Amino acid sequence: MSETILITGASGLLGRALVARFAQEDFQVLAHCRLRPGKETDNVHWLAGDFSTVESTADFLIEHEKKLKECRYLINNYGPIILRPTVDVTGKDLLADFLQQVVPVVDISRFLIARAPLQAVLNIGFEYTGEIRAYKKILGYAMAKNALLLLTRSWAASYPGVCFNLFSPPSLEKAEVLPKQAHIVAPELVAERIFRIMARCSSGFHYRYTDPPATAKN
Ligand SMILES: NC(=O)c1ccc[n+]([C@@H]2O[C@H](COP(=O)([O-])OP(=O)(O)OC[C@H]3O[C@@H](n4cnc5c(N)ncnc54)[C@H](OP(=O)(O)O)[C@@H]3O)[C@@H](O)[C@H]2O)c1
Repeated sequence: MSETILITGASGLLGRALVARFAQEDFQVLAHCRLRPGKETDNVHWLAGDFSTVESTADFLIEHEKKLKECRYLINNYGPIILRPTVDVTGKDLLADFLQQVVPVVDISRFLIARAPLQAVLNIGFEYTGEIRAYKKILGYAMAKNALLLLTRSWAASYPGVCFNLFSPPSLEKAEVLPKQAHIVAPELVAERIFRIMARCSSGFHYRYTDPPATAKN
């Protein structure tokens, strides 16, 4: 029987590539989106949900509980970026960043830990997760992504039966926000790397993207 995976933010840039990669391996893919579902197939099923509040995330979990109870794998890929000049950032802005980046990860993961045969969770960071840097426009986003790293490491130690890892993607081709001198990579290559990480039985690791070795020309 094929394994079930939930991918949040599955209709976005990286999400679409992840859905295609796992569907190709015959996973049952539960693909979350807010408004723009992709094509429904024998092994890709679209589940709509709004993660902008704690209550609407809970509604998503309750509405789709029957399907979600099958999940062995979870990729917490939803994580929108909001640009704000650092000098203007308020406490309310920081709360909004944590509400978007961290709260759905906590509530969705805990729901599946309690109700599904969950084996592995992968959280998605960003290019500079784990680095101490100054940010002029994405301070709240960077703080919340770093909180995900702490959460991942802590849960890996607290739940020995489930693998928790964090993967930090590079900037993605066609992304709306691209830092200067970004290392830009096709989402399909990033999805391939994530697929290989999910196949391992490791826990508590922070993985970064590295380019695949160049193939020798004939
Ligand atoms: N893009 C990059 O260059 C980059 C670089 C490093 C890390 N990352 C990280 O990689 C992950 C994927 O990024 P991405 O750029 O591929 O994402 P994206 O293209 O912006 O995708 C957004 C996804 O979130 C969904 N969504 C939007 N608002 C929502 C809401 N209120 N509630 C629930 N779902 C909502 C969208 O659904 P609809 O389509 O239905 O609206 C879509 O599936 C994120 O965690 C991001 O932080 C991205």
